[in-house]
Amino acid sequence: SGRSEYNLRSPICCIMGHVDTGKTKLLDCIRGTNVQEGEAGGITQQIGATYFPAENIRKRTKELKADANLKVPGLLVIDTPGHESFASLRSRGSGLCDMAILVVDIMHRLERQTVESLNLLKMRNTNFVIALNKVDRLYGWKACDNASIVKAMKQQSRDVQSEFRMRLTQVVTEFKEQGINTELYYKNRDMGKGTFSIVPASAISGEGIPDLLLLLVQWTAKTMAERLTYSNEVQCTVLEVKVVEGHGTTIDVILVNGVLRDGDQIVVCGMQGPIVTSIRSLLTPDAMKELRVKGSYEHHKEIKAVQGIKITAQGLEHAITGTSLYVVGPDDDMEGIKEAVKGD
Ligand code: GTP
Ligand code: MG
Ligand code: NA
Repeated sequence: SGRSEYNLRSPICCIMGHVDTGKTKLLDCIRGTNVQEGEAGGITQQIGATYFPAENIRKRTKELKADANLKVPGLLVIDTPGHESFASLRSRGSGLCDMAILVVDIMHRLERQTVESLNLLKMRNTNFVIALNKVDRLYGWKACDNASIVKAMKQQSRDVQSEFRMRLTQVVTEFKEQGINTELYYKNRDMGKGTFSIVPASAISGEGIPDLLLLLVQWTAKTMAERLTYSNEVQCTVLEVKVVEGHGTTIDVILVNGVLRDGDQIVVCGMQGPIVTSIRSLLTPDAMKELRVKGSYEHHKEIKAVQGIKITAQGLEHAITGTSLYVVGPDDDMEGIKEAVKGD
């Protein structure tokens, strides 16, 4: 019914996996950006967030001629670092998401932080799809820019197809060793019932990207009623604390539910106790732009979930990442909120 459709929030999808499997590059491919090449050493060191409006996803999945009619406003994707030293950021990202993309490099198969990420997802019972990335590195691969993987695979020589099958089998076996059943997504009749889908992809030439997006959309359609019903109660997590030229110390947050307004009194967890302050500005990057990359920001009077937001306010210097942000309403008990913050 119309009513429920307007009451859905965007799903949050976390992208995880071992260092250099191509997580950021995959997002660059979908966004049409070049974030990865701007990273120091090509390594992601922060959690990022990008908002994809439903309209963009619909365009990108058109050629699959499936019903990609998203009944949610969009999709928020959280990028995480794969380097071993950022385990806490992976944990934070996976703790926030409704579903995940686990990225595996087809040449390297399962690696240490692939398994670590997998264990986080298992622990939280989070559904995920596997992006088997870098198929363009199969010897003799013929690029079919942005094509569905089924179509792209048909264009390949027998040798490429047989190398692909061999590597896929190895990956499936390694997942099995981790207690996880997997199957190529277009052969998987058991999706969501214990067999996880594999989407072969390339972040460089874009094969498999439509398929990956379509799976996210289909998953959303299945689970929205239970999980994605919008709630007015503010649910908001601090991702990063950052000094930004011209803005002072800011916090990047993910607003999962509710509305934030310019001027709202907020409480966040600080190193020396709860920080009580007021929102000075609510900023978002443009759609399909990465929150963690400095760019132009759009100012808002209010923002409804789901969104990745940069908040400027006084006194945020000692804010602690990974904790909740609370909004103090007119009838709220400040002491109670401060206690809740301390317990975070
Ligand atoms: P961290 O965030 O540091 O964990 O790495 P990541 O998983 O985000 O990987 P990233 O996007 O930084 O890509 C790592 C390297 O692999 C870069 O040099 C990319 O250009 C390259 N790469 C990523 N995806 C592909 C792909 O599909 N094909 C090929 N050939 N190279 C890729
Ligand atoms: Mg990265
Ligand atoms: Na990298």
